[in-house]
Amino acid sequence: MDDLIDGPPANPIKIQDTSFRDGHQSLLATRLRTEDIIPIAERMDEVGFWAMEVWGGATFDAMHRFLGEDPFERLRTLKQYMKKTPFTMLLRGQNLLGYRHYADDVVRLFVDKTCEAGMDIFRVFDALNDFRNIETAAERVKANGKHFEGAVLLTLSGNRFGGEVFTLDYYINKGKELQDMGADTVCFKDMGGIMNPLDVGLLIRTLKEELTVPIHFHAHCTSGMASMGYLEAIRAGVDIVDTCLAPFAFRASQPAVETMVATLSGTNRDPGFDLNLLLEMDEYLEGIAPKYRDYAAKHRMSVVDTEVIVHQVPGGMISNLVNQLKEANALDRLPEVYREVSVTRKDLGMPPLATPTSQIVGVQAVLNVLFGRYKIVTNEVKDLVYGLYGRTPFPVDQEVQKKVLKGYKKGETPITGRPADYLEPELESARKKVGDLAKDDYDFLIYALYPSTGERFLRWKYGLEEKPEEIKPKTLEDIRKEDDAMAAAIEKICATQ
Ligand code: CO
Repeated sequence: MDDLIDGPPANPIKIQDTSFRDGHQSLLATRLRTEDIIPIAERMDEVGFWAMEVWGGATFDAMHRFLGEDPFERLRTLKQYMKKTPFTMLLRGQNLLGYRHYADDVVRLFVDKTCEAGMDIFRVFDALNDFRNIETAAERVKANGKHFEGAVLLTLSGNRFGGEVFTLDYYINKGKELQDMGADTVCFKDMGGIMNPLDVGLLIRTLKEELTVPIHFHAHCTSGMASMGYLEAIRAGVDIVDTCLAPFAFRASQPAVETMVATLSGTNRDPGFDLNLLLEMDEYLEGIAPKYRDYAAKHRMSVVDTEVIVHQVPGGMISNLVNQLKEANALDRLPEVYREVSVTRKDLGMPPLATPTSQIVGVQAVLNVLFGRYKIVTNEVKDLVYGLYGRTPFPVDQEVQKKVLKGYKKGETPITGRPADYLEPELESARKKVGDLAKDDYDFLIYALYPSTGERFLRWKYGLEEKPEEIKPKTLEDIRKEDDAMAAAIEKICATQ
């Protein structure tokens, strides 16, 4: 593979836009509304993106819970405006878009209906990189003739590549496993933004030698390294990268597309995008962004999360640790907790720190510091050690396993099979429970994934219950009033000084 050189665009980089999923999920608590996407949807479709990630991740939860929006309706609506560019979603394997493992019958119906609603590319991952947990979803994606993108979570045990578990070989083998499962593309996901750019280059170069499927790289700017990682990935021959429009880029989100376009301009990997068209859309997003400013982080100047560089702990996990310690009035023990996180994580088999494992490891690490190691054990840790989340990358420590599972109601000997094989089918009983409230399979799936908030959403949808005031969107008029009041208050302060 040629390095990056000036010349004709012989091998243009393919770019997936993430503004309407990961971008606002990372920066604005997933609150972006369909009505604010529609005005630029047709222009986005003209850019020439390889795909646009518009759904999945936390959007399904946020839409039905906080926005009063039907997630499937958004998908169908956007499809009407963007007919050329394929749509991508992020799917958490057997967890779908929820926080537990669902039975296979739910997974099958979910993938089938999502295909029908207009999804083209499914990026599927598992929190433990245990691909038995994505088998059922992958099988249905392929059966529907859609694009299966298998994803590997990138995680480390130190600040560079290597160590006992997460070696180059580990990742090459994971990539090959997905290729053998029939993945159309394989994605490597640096969800914590922890990867050293030079390691990214090494990883991609080796993947391009060892795998035949196209390689997709996804990273977050949390630690400030992602744009450098993208450049190294591109030099190493990566096929596809994920970017965001500038207003929704950087910080905890993806690198900006405008920056990549400018950097690659005139080279053999030039994507050939119209920069002016991108800037037009940036201006539009700047115009609507104030409606969402209450959700943006504004507690510090730095756009670089320096703690992440030091501890390799994802940003979201750090704020949870801090909150948990604050509640226990023990914030001074944070340095101990950072050390304990890496010990607890090793005890529990080195799970990648993603949803939900980052939470499971973090909560247990705090309990270990406050009350003594494994004196109090959460049910989630018991389930993890018992094997209900799947196979951990490294064996669980034998002593810890004995201690954690002693007297556990599900059993003291861990299961070793595919976790979903231990689950009973769920559809029939869920259908009985929701009754006529669900008018079709789409309604039914919202309920099946989220029984309590899903039921409440369906009651809003069919006018059986009034939508509460707080889920109605702020308007630009509200924002102007807020700003005027703030300006008046500041003037008053200045006048009295
Ligand atoms: Co992401």
